[in-house]
Amino acid sequence: MKPATLKPIQVGLLGIGTVGSGVFNVLQRNHGEIMRRAGRGIEISMVADLDTARAKTMVGQDVQVVADARAVIANPDIDIVVELIGGYGIARQLVLEAIEAGKHVVTANKALLAVHGTEIFAAASRKGVMVAFEAAVAGGIPIIKSLREGLSANRIEWIAGIINGTTNFILSEMRDKGLDFDVVLEEAQRLGYAEADPTFDIEGVDAAHKVSLMSAMAFGVPVQFDKAYIEGITQLGAQDIKYAEQLGYRIKLLGITKKTAKGIELRVHPSLVPAKRLIANVEGAMNAVMVHGDAVGTTLYYGKGAGSEPTASAVIADLVDIARLHTADAAQRVPHLAFQPDSMSDTPVLPMGDVVTSYYLRLKVADEAGVLAKVTGILAALDISIDAVLQREADEVGGEGSTQTDLIILTHDCVEAKMNEALAQMQALPTVLAPITRIRKEELA
Ligand code: HSE
Repeated sequence: MKPATLKPIQVGLLGIGTVGSGVFNVLQRNHGEIMRRAGRGIEISMVADLDTARAKTMVGQDVQVVADARAVIANPDIDIVVELIGGYGIARQLVLEAIEAGKHVVTANKALLAVHGTEIFAAASRKGVMVAFEAAVAGGIPIIKSLREGLSANRIEWIAGIINGTTNFILSEMRDKGLDFDVVLEEAQRLGYAEADPTFDIEGVDAAHKVSLMSAMAFGVPVQFDKAYIEGITQLGAQDIKYAEQLGYRIKLLGITKKTAKGIELRVHPSLVPAKRLIANVEGAMNAVMVHGDAVGTTLYYGKGAGSEPTASAVIADLVDIARLHTADAAQRVPHLAFQPDSMSDTPVLPMGDVVTSYYLRLKVADEAGVLAKVTGILAALDISIDAVLQREADEVGGEGSTQTDLIILTHDCVEAKMNEALAQMQALPTVLAPITRIRKEELA
């Protein structure tokens, strides 16, 4: 059959909020271009949303609007269900039911796939349907496609990404304006950049969902969000951003996954990044992902990680893929997680204590003889090598006549368990006057 003679593929949306309306609008606006690529039309013929009146004003008369998502799943004419509800509760149930009903699924729901991906992908493989999730990681950036297809010649060695726009906006504002976290968070909420409940963003959970998915696709391992180390940005002080800058670094919340001889690193935490790296200059709510492959070297993907049409761009790319492959033999399709399901590896995720990285330390110390010697003595005894030391004059830090100062130390690489031991010993010194700040440092060379 010639592609142009195929009837349009039928899509049902579950939820028509910011992303759903973007999908609807972009599909309408770019209908001709999209059809030329897909080889057939892509039509949204049904929408489920609890607010049916609002949904009807968005999609017009030609689209059937219902309140019950299960009516979409039960409709035999629907080929693809697009899940835009979010969360792990009802969304999981509906996705599994859609798969069971033989529908392909497109979702932007990273939380759902990070926590229940193994179950969902297995169900889809059994049923011979596709579950596509380009929009789940870094919004409009085609990073899933790149990992799954564009980089398939490579042994991927590491990925490091700014994959949460809210926290990158907050960190950019803290640096630009010299403000503290709480002040900027309030501003971000007022401007609508941060959610009313920003917990998943600021605590690093959203980034961990996304990096867990990328890790699975990079290394051919199951999605292991439950094993990720997660640390958010709530403890960062404006002074650390300032000191990092003086040392030639910016602080970014990175999602990192790396293959080492001992296992896979999977971690989200604030990181010092050399200011000269392109990724250090990704500002505001933008996202960027670096991927290092043995053949290609280091690559960088940049763009909007959220928003109505950027996310719709990713959702529609998945719809086009499915429209092209709908009639293909299921065994010939690109595997959900890049590697064939029977070729997955069980390489373990390393405990954080075994991770090797370098560190920024800030110690509030009494400005008296011998303090620096004691601190560096502890590091030397544990064979932790110092890369740089910065000490401000006490007056500059604590005001005129102050008897305390900040001591900043950058270390070379060492294993995290050793650094934890050094921190415990330094913290116990009577001349160390406040909890020590420790931020990991990534050269990303
Ligand atoms: N809340 C996310 C962010 C967008 O701030 O990047 C959706 O993943």
